[in-house]
Amino acid sequence: MKKIAPSILAADFSYLAEQIRLVEIGGADIIHCDIMDGKFVPNITFGPIVVKAVRKITKLPIDVHLMIKDPDNFIEDFIKAGADYISVHQEEVVHLHRTISRIKELGAKAGVVLNPATPVNTLDDILEFVDYILVMSVNPGFGGQSFIESSLKKIEELKKIREDKNLNYEIEIDGGVTSKNIEKISKAGCDIFVAGSSIFGEDNISAASTELKKLIS
Ligand code: DX5
Ligand code: ZN
Repeated sequence: MKKIAPSILAADFSYLAEQIRLVEIGGADIIHCDIMDGKFVPNITFGPIVVKAVRKITKLPIDVHLMIKDPDNFIEDFIKAGADYISVHQEEVVHLHRTISRIKELGAKAGVVLNPATPVNTLDDILEFVDYILVMSVNPGFGGQSFIESSLKKIEELKKIREDKNLNYEIEIDGGVTSKNIEKISKAGCDIFVAGSSIFGEDNISAASTELKKLIS
């Protein structure tokens, strides 16, 4: 089943519990948490303390996207805080196989993220070990940017490799997803759709989630 993952980066943090409730009402499947350290990306967000609070607010799975230096040092903290999915960037992690194995050993689903400039073939030897691949369709760091069209080719490529090699990772997209482009992203083969501004930036947050979900069903 295809899933909608609202990114709380675009939420109003002074009403976080209510905002999460609204996307739940709208049929969201996963809560996406963007972790930024001001080093790997030029922005700072939040850490395990907020993920722990989100864990108290919702029963939905929590997807933690680590845009930080040395993510290995924080994997355990985020899983203890309640993360169900953890993704690390290909561009940052040297020993990807070790990191992916550790995330899985600690009981979470393990994902690898590709920046817009990183080709799919850099993942050739790790694909069989991962639970999901996150394709960045904007340069990570900020919400509200425009979708980079070449990301569609990456999704198609990942879908084809999955079929050819009989693998079973999920394909996730993150950045610039809206009601205008979500259908073509879905047709390309995407399974999980992260959306920040196109959900939390709308007046009716529940209706915006429902609308996106309808377009991929
Ligand atoms: C960007 C983040 C995204 C971002 C998406 O670095 O990884 O998750 O919040 O936001 P929108 O949907 O506004 O592009
Ligand atoms: Zn993200």
